[in-house]
Amino acid sequence: MHNVTMIAGDGIGPEISNAVAEIIAAAGVEINWDRVEAGAGVMDKYGTPLPEQVFESIRKNKVALKGPITTPVGSGFRSVNVAIRKELDLYANVRPLKVHAKAFAQNQAIDMVVFRENTEGLYVGIEHYVGDEAAESIKIITRKASRRIVRSAFEYAIREGRKKVTAVHKANILKFSDGLFLEEARNIAAEYAQTHPEIEFDDKIVDNMCMQMVQYPEQYDVLVMPNLYGDIVSDLGAGLIGGLGLAPGMNLGDEIAVFEAVHGSAPDIAGQNKANPVALLFSAVLMLRHLKEKEAADRIEKAVSDVLNEGKVLTVDLGGNASTDQITEAIIANL
Ligand code: NAI
Ligand code: MG
Repeated sequence: MHNVTMIAGDGIGPEISNAVAEIIAAAGVEINWDRVEAGAGVMDKYGTPLPEQVFESIRKNKVALKGPITTPVGSGFRSVNVAIRKELDLYANVRPLKVHAKAFAQNQAIDMVVFRENTEGLYVGIEHYVGDEAAESIKIITRKASRRIVRSAFEYAIREGRKKVTAVHKANILKFSDGLFLEEARNIAAEYAQTHPEIEFDDKIVDNMCMQMVQYPEQYDVLVMPNLYGDIVSDLGAGLIGGLGLAPGMNLGDEIAVFEAVHGSAPDIAGQNKANPVALLFSAVLMLRHLKEKEAADRIEKAVSDVLNEGKVLTVDLGGNASTDQITEAIIANL
């Protein structure tokens, strides 16, 4: 029995969270879900979209599955999702890019994992106008954050039997900030070259990396990069494997892991039984691996691949007309 915090979120969050909990139960994994509420729906009740119980529960359980959350205007938050990552110091945003369904992938050889630095870079939100005609945004890169994100990419590579880590940057132009990131990436790589010489290391300039990902994905494995590049490159990756409805993610700190899909709350289809639960389900599969439930994780992954490859029960985002309930049932039937 595992204790896991569940934040269903809002928009399509409750529908897809229920679907995922149902599939995990059908796969035979016993989870004691500690359900806590966050998002637009709880503003009236708690006066904040992010009540303290959310953090208490995650700190206690160390593992959470999180649905998408809409940040209400006037709540005092720029983003509730970013606030959760910040408060829990979840410094690595990790997005595995794997082909689960041939028909939806641009290239069958894609099997990469993007490690995005989650706490600094251009997203520190330090911006101002300079007079009327210009604006400045400050990008912050520290040695500490660079070292720990690269270290976490190497640790993941070791754990998952990956062969190569590529640091992605623009150090040819941004010689100070990205230069520092690259310098620390090379330092950490030199350390791991001693203990794990089987893991290769190289670096790529981010624009070239985008082209390489599309043309020669088979040459890449674990990619690690500062915040902004990670945001863009991981969405490129999501597109390469079949879109938002299939792309899972996780946010890792030193002790806490929060698993969530890449997509948002999809207000345009919320409450209509139309949402694709697979991205959150694949995030839950990553969670099951984290909980050492490998057999169930493999089985769920296989069941989803079978349903997608068969192509009879597909949600609207994948060009079909199946409901959330129907694809959930189809996946369970394939377990
Ligand atoms: P979105 O990802 O919610 O939706 C973009 C498009 O993709 C929409 O047409 C939507 O219907 C579709 N879509 C997304 N997920 C889907 C799924 N599982 N199945 C079928 N179709 C799906 O992005 P958008 O519209 O930019 O953001 C909506 C809200 O979500 C915003 O308030 C945003 O702040 C929030 N958001 C939350 C995130 C999180 O909780 N981590 C991440 C991204 C956005
Ligand atoms: Mg993004």
